[in-house]
Amino acid sequence: MKIFLDTADVPTILKHFETGLIDGVTTNPSLIRKSGRDPEDVYRELAMAGIPDISMEVVEDMIGEGRRLSKEFPYVCTVKVPCTPEGLKACKVLSDDGVKVNVTLIFNAAQAILASKAGATYVSPFIGRLDDNSVAGLEVVRSISEVYRVQGVKTQILAASIRDVYKVSRSFWNGAHIVTMPPKIFEGMYNHILTDKGLEIFDADYQATISRSKAFPIPEINNRKPGKDLDAI
Ligand code: G3P
Repeated sequence: MKIFLDTADVPTILKHFETGLIDGVTTNPSLIRKSGRDPEDVYRELAMAGIPDISMEVVEDMIGEGRRLSKEFPYVCTVKVPCTPEGLKACKVLSDDGVKVNVTLIFNAAQAILASKAGATYVSPFIGRLDDNSVAGLEVVRSISEVYRVQGVKTQILAASIRDVYKVSRSFWNGAHIVTMPPKIFEGMYNHILTDKGLEIFDADYQATISRSKAFPIPEINNRKPGKDLDAI
């Protein structure tokens, strides 16, 4: 069960990577454009910071670009291609070369079948965009997962286009191996009103205990270390 961040915002990625809970990053041309940065500068900074898996989307000359990126960023590069005839051809060639490939813009199980036959490491169904178009995105994850399970396919499902926290757990529940999400959704995963309320009570009780201990110090015997001190009693 892996968590990827779906962004090209390096400072935000690095901040969350420090939690030890982030397993990778996915980017695409829109996210790179939003960052206002050169894509390879972004990949380089992420690679140097130790991000273990970075999806780098190729648009033109997909095979040539994919080979170049995988040499430039060995160990961390996953080449991202669209689910088109050219994209899947590139997927096959690159996968045969031993390069990890993420086939993106997946909207049904048929596309996921083609991607797995082309040797994809990951397929990325876009849950939010399916929902936008009145198709239940989670159902698509479920059907890909069932096909892969029945057929013993090794390609992993990387659920993408995640718009709310609920979809994260439901994606995993429906068979996704990885969920990639905007940083805001990751931050939202920590939150629950009952956690906040519970913490408030624990904090108040902790403070009250501390002040009472200061007013009535614990007898010295309780401060003795086990072992030597206790043996002497
Ligand atoms: O990983 C794909 C993702 O970036 C698309 O998300 O919200 O634009 O559909 P969204």
